[in-house]
Amino acid sequence: MSDSRTFEEVKAQVLSAHSCSGPKEKVKFYNTWAEKYEQDVAILDYNAPFLAAECIASHFTGEKESAVILDVACGTGLVSGHLKKMGFRHFVGVDASEKMLNLATKTGLYQELKKSMLCQDPFPVQDESYDIVVIVGALSIGHVPVSVIKELWQATKPGGFVCMTTRGNADNFEYKTELERVIRVMEEEKKWSCVAINEVANWEKAVSEHERGYITGVVYLYQRAHQV
Ligand SMILES: C[S@@+](CC[C@H](N)C(=O)[O-])C[C@H]1O[C@@H](n2cnc3c(N)ncnc32)[C@H](O)[C@@H]1O
Repeated sequence: MSDSRTFEEVKAQVLSAHSCSGPKEKVKFYNTWAEKYEQDVAILDYNAPFLAAECIASHFTGEKESAVILDVACGTGLVSGHLKKMGFRHFVGVDASEKMLNLATKTGLYQELKKSMLCQDPFPVQDESYDIVVIVGALSIGHVPVSVIKELWQATKPGGFVCMTTRGNADNFEYKTELERVIRVMEEEKKWSCVAINEVANWEKAVSEHERGYITGVVYLYQRAHQV
């Protein structure tokens, strides 16, 4: 493993993603970041994977050992790694970055890993087949379009759970507003109901020039209706 970087170096790495012109460029960025991703996000004190896993584990009402989890935009496997420590056992991962998926394979956590560009390729799993669907670190400006949440819902078993996260900082304001609008419409349509919304102060260290300290973030946990 190579030497860890300074906070300033990690900041430059993350800010370099702002020049990505679209989803393909963003995935290329993750391919080049993959080897240093886990070391770098530890320097940023990126707490989202743990916070999402903790929210799921504290509200999931079924048998953890037999629950099947779809980890969307799984990256190197941080979310499933935390869920495993909390008692879950069965994981399937989806990501568009081959290099991130290669690292996820090495963890040995996943029964299956699927390469898929979300909202461009057909969603790569069967409808209504997962007890829990989780997406962490990918619902934000420049990453995956908000429309993916309908596909996450579709992949969840009736009565199953969908866990989503987003950032609360200024550059993500419009994305977060739209995400919350779509979540609310689906709630009004009785597709799902809210289990928890956890607003977190220490999401990760700020990297933009306009922000200091930590940025905020949110974990949303919804339960798919048994019948729609
Ligand atoms: C910040 S990382 C989060 C990884 C992991 N969930 C975590 O919290 O550590 C974002 C991940 O989303 C993936 N990603 C970004 N855009 C994507 C897209 N359009 N389709 C599929 N995966 C995408 C990247 O390849 C990357 O692995």
